[in-house]
Amino acid sequence: MITTTDLTKVYRSRGREITALDGVDLHVREGEVYGVVGQSGAGKSTLIRCVNLLERPTSGTVTVAGQDLTALAGRGTRAGSALRKARTGIGMVFQHFNLLSSRTVRDNVELPLEILGVSGKQRTRKAQELLDLVGLADKAKAYPAQLSGGQKQRVGIARALAGDPKVLLSDEATSALDPETTRSILQLLRDLNRQLGLTVLLITHEMDVVKSICDSAALMRDGRIVESGAVAELLATPGSELARELFPVGGELPGTDRTVVDVTFHGEAATKPVISQLARTYNIDISILGAAMDTVGGRQVGRMRIELPGPFEENVVPIGFLREQGLQIEVASGAEAALRAANDGNPIKPANPIKPTEPTELTKEGAK
Ligand SMILES: Nc1ncnc2c1ncn2[C@@H]1O[C@H](COP(=O)(O)OP(=O)(O)OP(=O)(O)O)[C@@H](O)[C@H]1O
Ligand SMILES: [Mg+2]
Repeated sequence: MITTTDLTKVYRSRGREITALDGVDLHVREGEVYGVVGQSGAGKSTLIRCVNLLERPTSGTVTVAGQDLTALAGRGTRAGSALRKARTGIGMVFQHFNLLSSRTVRDNVELPLEILGVSGKQRTRKAQELLDLVGLADKAKAYPAQLSGGQKQRVGIARALAGDPKVLLSDEATSALDPETTRSILQLLRDLNRQLGLTVLLITHEMDVVKSICDSAALMRDGRIVESGAVAELLATPGSELARELFPVGGELPGTDRTVVDVTFHGEAATKPVISQLARTYNIDISILGAAMDTVGGRQVGRMRIELPGPFEENVVPIGFLREQGLQIEVASGAEAALRAANDGNPIKPANPIKPTEPTELTKEGAK
């Protein structure tokens, strides 16, 4: 539904060049909710503004609903009429709502319809329908100043839907809201996604947002997408940074005489008593260093960081046992972690395994 190919954006200001986007290939499927996360300055807002050509990319292409927007863009900053038309199929929701304070709620929602040249009666009917859809039917005549933050964002969403878009873009739509209001706005976006088949591309810095409503996600850093995919698949990807952030297990990595294993439970595997079976079968003591249960992408997932006595070589069989139970296993310390890194194309060779850092003199002293 949304595809960007080798998208770059270079800002030039006061003789300096800032590469805000550095070859971004994004692919958002029709009907999904896609979240982009990343630190401040990673290029998230630039990316979303390039998707509807509010910002003109320096190079690369943007295709939305099969239409190459970069080809429609026209010259200069003025959008050509073809681009303006294409944009009506892309709604946008903003962090600070961007409502006009002198207009009533309904008039705010009517604004894009006025620009589209829709007649007065039709406009009013459509605006009323949209306000109904976002749960604000009774606020049509109120002014933005009379609304709560959550209500203002509902108006912002109704306005974004005025042109019957196929795609909704949202840049930090909930970051000015309290947690409870955030939840209700996210639920609204999810409902609209399901009811209207709306494809949603949203930007957030909150992992909870990704957890609660995104089907897919991408992590941006320094203008690049460094990881992306379906949330459920990311969780099943060894070494995934997004999975770790979505689902932190905590727990310190110990010295070389122990093996730390991160276990991820999905679906049926979550209900089996595997840890006690493991302890009994191999007669080993298992310590739980950290654990969490959560719903990610609408599915129950559990994660646990456990510690087995002895180095990795002594735990090959118990780890094999865990894998056989259909659990996803990632060895967080020891030789296998190094091997895995080598297999992923990392220059570290298996003959030269990563050793957890030696405790410093200070901590050794402290332990005495
Ligand atoms: N109009 C502009 N002129 C010059 N530099 C810009 C402009 N807009 C953004 N940048 C720079 O581009 C980079 C990416 O900015 P962007 O706003 O896309 O980041 P972001 O990921 O949305 O960050 P945040 O989470 O803080 O909103 C930053 O280094 C920023 O300073
Ligand atoms: Mg931003």
